[in-house]
Amino acid sequence: MNFQALKTRIEGTALEALSPFLEEEYLQQIKHGDFARWRRLLAELPSIEAGSLNLGEIVQLGSDTDCDPDTQLKLRQSLQEFIPWRKGPFNLFGIDLDCEWRCNLKWQRLQGEISSLQGRQVLDVGCGNGYYGYRMLEAGADLVIGLDPHIAYVAQAWLLHHFASTLPSYVLPLTLEQAPQRLQCFDTVFSMGVIYHRRSPIDHLVQLKECLRPGGELILETLYVDGGTGYSLTPDDKYARMSNVWFLPSIDTLTQWLTRCGFSNVRVIDESVTTTDEQRKTEWMPFDTLADSLDPSNPKLTIEGLPAPKRVVVSATRS
Ligand SMILES: C[S@@+](CC[C@H](N)C(=O)[O-])C[C@H]1O[C@@H](n2cnc3c(N)ncnc32)[C@H](O)[C@@H]1O
Repeated sequence: MNFQALKTRIEGTALEALSPFLEEEYLQQIKHGDFARWRRLLAELPSIEAGSLNLGEIVQLGSDTDCDPDTQLKLRQSLQEFIPWRKGPFNLFGIDLDCEWRCNLKWQRLQGEISSLQGRQVLDVGCGNGYYGYRMLEAGADLVIGLDPHIAYVAQAWLLHHFASTLPSYVLPLTLEQAPQRLQCFDTVFSMGVIYHRRSPIDHLVQLKECLRPGGELILETLYVDGGTGYSLTPDDKYARMSNVWFLPSIDTLTQWLTRCGFSNVRVIDESVTTTDEQRKTEWMPFDTLADSLDPSNPKLTIEGLPAPKRVVVSATRS
């Protein structure tokens, strides 16, 4: 990703604290077996100019009229090198990138319920390949910074941004914990699908709060379980085949956590059951998926016998 425009933009602002993470020196010390190969593939991407950028339900970067069939084939082969594509959908120069998750459905559920993103500076913690960043720009955001430590997704984000380099949505390879603390400058902070991966969910909420300016809005999305105030589920081992799930709170517990951490106006925006229509195997994500994680004889349970995935989206204000 070319960070030059971002570097210029954050100079002299609170976000300048992110500058060290934009330097080659920082990227060089990232240890991941495939990172060097992905960076080489990124450097070899065809340089096609996207004649149009459509940041709607299917994020469309360019169309098939922007390149010849040979170039399109080369691009398809490059995209295949970055499988699995989990978050989408995208269309790149006529190639349909039908990803595991139809993220447009989650965005549909929350977009009408959050404060307008018009002119806002937004932080997307655990942004994956940056699908939602494009939707946030569509909704009027002025700048979107995404953070994600999973280098495979960061590489995908950089691939996408190669064809949309004028758009102010940037993905940085780092965790929220590594990021400079107490930035206190974002108007809206999103943390979607992250808190249950944290061993210390309360610390996560405090760190999210400290990224916000006073009065800013947190949009938090998480798996939840039924139960009263104080109840949360810690799986004995895996949850839906995932070994990094620590706390699944009830909605009342989540509300209590947020309030205790100093948020106000805690409001449930949406509750949904994750379906095999929203998360499924595709050509671009051919591995195990939700259907393989549910009890075949009872889809209300995971294969570990725990409640099947349900998700809640909550809005809260930094007081
Ligand atoms: C379940 S995915 C959710 C992706 C996207 N936000 C969504 O809602 O579809 C969780 C993402 O959070 C990232 N993640 C995990 N721990 C994180 C942390 N401490 N800081 C930032 N991102 C984190 C993971 O790498 C992964 O991409």
